[in-house]
Amino acid sequence: MFEASEVPLGEGRAKSVDPDLTIAVFHLDDGFFAIDDTCSHAQASLSEGEVVGHVVICPRHGGRFDLRTGKPAGLPATGKVASFPVQVDSGSILVDWEG
Ligand code: FES
Repeated sequence: MFEASEVPLGEGRAKSVDPDLTIAVFHLDDGFFAIDDTCSHAQASLSEGEVVGHVVICPRHGGRFDLRTGKPAGLPATGKVASFPVQVDSGSILVDWEG
């Protein structure tokens, strides 16, 4: 999906994998995490949000999501976003979004 080198530490990057799904991959101190890029509150791109610890702050209204689970971690976000398993293989980030 991405090369690991394309996602700087402390940031996120997004890529569309399906007409209805854009995935955001975040690079944290303890690895890479993937969630649905579209905020559950009003559809902002979460990959553009600031990362604090394991939480991303939505750039539109400041809703927060736990990057490990996709669960909301601060208002006005109340709905979960999907989270996806990630593996890194030979420098490539592999995201299993099809289950
Ligand atoms: S669009 Fe993300 S908190 Fe409103």
